[in-house]
Amino acid sequence: SLVLDFQQHVMEFYAAKGRHDMEWRHTDDPYKILVSEIMLQQTQVPRVAVIYPKFIEKFPDIFALAKADHADLLTAWQGMGYNRRALNLQKLARVIADEYGGKIPNDPAVLLTLPGIGPATSCSIAAFAFDRPVVFIETNIRRVFIHYFFEEDQAVDDRELLPLVSAMLPANSREWYWALMDLGTALKSAVKNPNQRSRQYTKQKSFEGSDRQIRGGVLKR
Ligand code: ADE
Repeated sequence: SLVLDFQQHVMEFYAAKGRHDMEWRHTDDPYKILVSEIMLQQTQVPRVAVIYPKFIEKFPDIFALAKADHADLLTAWQGMGYNRRALNLQKLARVIADEYGGKIPNDPAVLLTLPGIGPATSCSIAAFAFDRPVVFIETNIRRVFIHYFFEEDQAVDDRELLPLVSAMLPANSREWYWALMDLGTALKSAVKNPNQRSRQYTKQKSFEGSDRQIRGGVLKR
């Protein structure tokens, strides 16, 4: 089916080219995943990869972060930019420590009420920390769905994409969204670097048949 073809295509990409070395993908501690998602909101993966391990070592749980003194906090944040973000992260840790007994909520609607957590981050935490079947879009996920289901230069509203994201969601949300983010990142560099594109994406050709079917069958644009 179209859904299974797309899922298979994405997961094959992920098996071959996924960024499996990211430390925050090798934990199921919701605190550590929350820290990584806040860091990744505004900082590129390679930089977060350097700072995150030291930050976690210094503040291994939500209570350590909640009670950290500002000098230590800002030292551990060095290289991330905008110290304000570190203070906001501590504010988030304090709310979770004080009002949720230190337990990261697993409901995206609850996460969304917490300081510094917007729609995309509430869902990325729910997916990556709790494997919840959330439906959400951020930059890289958006790029994947536009690439496969729309004309590349078309402006597409998220309200059009969300039903598609929902229709394609498999049982394993955690791995699925990792895969979408990695594929979206790869598509971005492929667009910037067109020579690589044909080499890197020959596999996509085998998907073009179902790609067109999905366009014709589901979207009717
Ligand atoms: N892996 C887990 N979370 C991620 C994110 N926000 N961006 C890229 N890769 C990730």
